[in-house]
Order: sequence, then structure tokens, then C-alpha cells
Amino acid sequence: MSDRSTGAATWPRLKRPALVVAAVGLLFAAGVVALPGTAGAATTLGASAAARDGRFFGTAVAAGKLSDSAYTTILDREFNAVTPENEMKIDATEPQQNQFSYANADRIVAHARGLGMQVRGHTLAWHSQQPGWMQNMSGSALRQAMLNHVTQVATHFRGQVAWWDVVNEAFADGSSGARRDSNLQRTGNDWIEAAFTAARAADPNAKLCYNDYNTDNWTAAKTQAVYRMVQDFKNRGVPIDCVGLQSHFTGGSSYPSNYRTTLSSFAALGVDVHITELDITNAPATAYTSVTNDCLAVARCRGITVWGIRDSDSWRSGESPLLFTSSGGKKAAYTSVLTALNNGAPPTGPTTPPTTPPTVPPTTPPGGGSCTASITPGTVWADRYNTTVTVTGSTTWTVTIDITAPQKVSTTWNGTFTWSNNGNTMTIKPNGSGNTFGFTTMTNGNTTARPRITACTTS
Ligand code: G3I
Repeated sequence: MSDRSTGAATWPRLKRPALVVAAVGLLFAAGVVALPGTAGAATTLGASAAARDGRFFGTAVAAGKLSDSAYTTILDREFNAVTPENEMKIDATEPQQNQFSYANADRIVAHARGLGMQVRGHTLAWHSQQPGWMQNMSGSALRQAMLNHVTQVATHFRGQVAWWDVVNEAFADGSSGARRDSNLQRTGNDWIEAAFTAARAADPNAKLCYNDYNTDNWTAAKTQAVYRMVQDFKNRGVPIDCVGLQSHFTGGSSYPSNYRTTLSSFAALGVDVHITELDITNAPATAYTSVTNDCLAVARCRGITVWGIRDSDSWRSGESPLLFTSSGGKKAAYTSVLTALNNGAPPTGPTTPPTTPPTVPPTTPPGGGSCTASITPGTVWADRYNTTVTVTGSTTWTVTIDITAPQKVSTTWNGTFTWSNNGNTMTIKPNGSGNTFGFTTMTNGNTTARPRITACTTS
């Protein structure tokens, strides 16, 4: 698991009992033990996640609670990854410019690594929880101070942090799809890639993530904007390895039915996907199960972190959003998550793609048109496939293509694409790139359906 392309930086150094249960879980994965939920199943979240191809199940941890034995009993038993909840933020690690303070973060790292847990660093560059001296800075001085912070902190934790949330919450909410205004954004639009480049130089072995909230619904403008940034970074070689979906689900921002599409679409860009701050108002077992199953269904979804252990530890404790009661009892959602982890990946169709994708014959355009569109099937992967379409007979064409749900188009090129409200019909017009356009379709479990051209008209 040290290969950058496959997920976690290293296999978790599991506690001895965890090694045993992980091995049992691997037997499950290999089909040696067929029945889930039997006596051989893993009995903790971390061990059962580790048995699922080395995934992590983590929690946010507060240094001040490490002296609470009720807290550490659950932490040490259940989890194989931790994220310091506040202790690695900028105001905590550099309270005065160039004076670094690591004591609380070091305590969490030592506790976690002493038990073989992986550590997620959170976070190197953020508009929030900046110390006063940074809040008052701007321009090139702020840019340099931010890069120095990234370099110093990532260097301090080099070799101890598996994943860094390099940049946190840089996009605006709502329908704009724009970057969030902040003092960091005002230093220039390239501040995010500059932060990633500095982090890579400081700790070449840490996985570098972009982390945000309200990026769970695939059709949300914010999700699409983050997707396009990651796509752009991958295209230009900016060092990014993973995307974190915070997934704070509330009544107003609930678990979306297209969550798996979001996970698989980011994964198709060639980055790992992590669920980094999961909590759900009133902890419904169904939504927790769905999140778990969605992660298991996407190979590059490498793990889940819940944002606290007991409800009383939550930043929104009034909503009881976590897996343990305030007195440390396992809630129904805990049992559901553990069962889902032990059951393994839900069915997603064959993992071996057909070697010869079915061809879709071009259709005759309806009356009035004088163009023809024809499909050429492209590369097929386990979870997605490419299609190109060539139009003849006109240069001012409009092509309509139907996609069979739950398949969804994740990437397009060489055309101007618009979608119907349900996302299943797309209309494509030329964008100056010629008469051949293309797109990538996520199968989302249906590996046989293929796009159908329903019209080619001229204008
Ligand atoms: O420790 C001090 C305490 O000494 C003081 O008396 C008290 C008075 O307000 O404040 C305490 O610090 C608080 C700290 O949590 C520890 O409890 C801060 O005020 C409070 O702002 C801080 O809130 C944190 C919040 O981030 C700040 O933005 C939450 O704990 C933390 O859970 C939350 O985490 C964020 C992620 O980093 C990013 N994604 C969203 C998530 C939830 O907001």
C-alpha cells in the first residue's frame, strides 16, 4: 500500500488484536469465510475497515480529552486513524509568527502512533482559525507567511502524518462555484497550488488532500467547482493525491442519493477520496450505512473519519450526530456501520470490464436535420468508460444523447454540454474544437448500458 496510486500511505501498523481480526477480514475478502456477521467478523471499526483492502476508520481527537479514560478506552479500541480536531490548525501551531507550538499536536500524534494508528494532519492553509498576526496580513507578505507555515509544519511532522489536509474550505457556498473570498484568496488564485507544492517539498511521502464541506451532492455547484480544480491540478501536474469530503450532514444538508457518484467521479480523476469529518444529525443508522457502503463500493475511497467519538465530544453535541452516546455506549448507527464494513463492498457489477464494449449504431436524425452523429466507444475501466462522437454534414450541429441512470457523465471535452434536470439527457453544441467531442461516463454499477444518440439537428 505504499504505492501513491493505491491509497493509504502505508498499511496501518495495526495493534496485535487488530492484526488478527484484519487477517480474518482478509479471509472474508478472499471468500475463505463466506458469511458476514459471524463469529469471525471483525469487532471494531478500525479492524473491520482495515480488512477492507486496508481502509481506515478514524476519528477527530482533542488533546484535552486524552486524560479521560472513558474517551481513550473507546479511541484505543475502535479506531485506526486520528485527526487532531484543532491542535494542528494555524492558530495552534504558529500562535506568533515564526514561533511554532507543537505540544498538543505532538501528544495526539504520539498517542496515535504508539497504537499503530495513522494520522491525518488538519490543516495547513485555511481562511479560518488563523492567528491574529496572520489575519492582519495580506499580499505577498501573507503568501510568504502561509508558505513558510506549510513548510515548517509539514517538516515538523514529516514521516508521522499519512495525509495532510493541505488546504481547507477554499470554495464558496451556494451556486456561484467561485472561490471563497479570504485574505489567502486575495494573494492570488494560485495560492492553493502553491500550498500543495510547498507541502510536497516538505514531506514527499505524505498524501496531500484538498478538504471541504458541502461537496457531497454531485450536482451542487460547489462540488463541481472543486471537481474542476482537482481535474485541472491533475492535468497540470500540481501535486494532489486525495480529496476530503467532510460530510457534515444535517437536516438542511442531508446525505444525497448521488453521494456514490461524487466519490467515484473524484476517484476517476486519479485521486483517493476520504470521508473526513462525518457526522449526521441524530445519527440515523440508514444514512451511516449508506455512507459506509458508498465508500466500500469505490476502490479509491480509502476510509472514513467521524468528527468525534461520543455525542458529548461533537462540535454540535446538541444534535447527537456520532456513533457513541455521551456515556460511551454504542448507538444503532455504530452497529450498522460495523455490519456494513464486515459485509464488505456492496455489489457494483463486474470488476472486469468487457473487452469489446457494445457498439451503439448511429441513429438517423429526426426530420429537418441534415447532420449525422456516430459513436465510437473508447477506453473502458472498471467503473467508467469513454465515448467519442463524430458529427458529419454540418458545423452548426446540436446533438442530444441519453444516458441510462444510474450512469452519469463525469467529464466532457471538445463541446459545450448542457444537461436535463435529471442529468440523463445531454445536449451538445460545438465549442470551436471541431466536430468530434467526447465524454467519460461513470457506470455506477450498470456496466452494460451505453449512451444513445437521440437527435442530431442543425441550426
Ligand atoms: O479551547 C478553548 C477554551 O479554552 C475557551 O474557553 C473556549 C471559549 O470559546 O474556546 C475553546 O476553543 C474552542 C475550540 O473549538 C475547542 O473547543 C474554539 O472557541 C472553537 O472555535 C473551536 O471550534 C472548532 C471549530 O472547528 C473552529 O472552526 C471545533 O472544535 C472543531 O470541531 C471545528 O472543526 C471544523 C473543522 O476544523 C473543519 N470543518 C468544519 C469543522 C466543524 O466546524
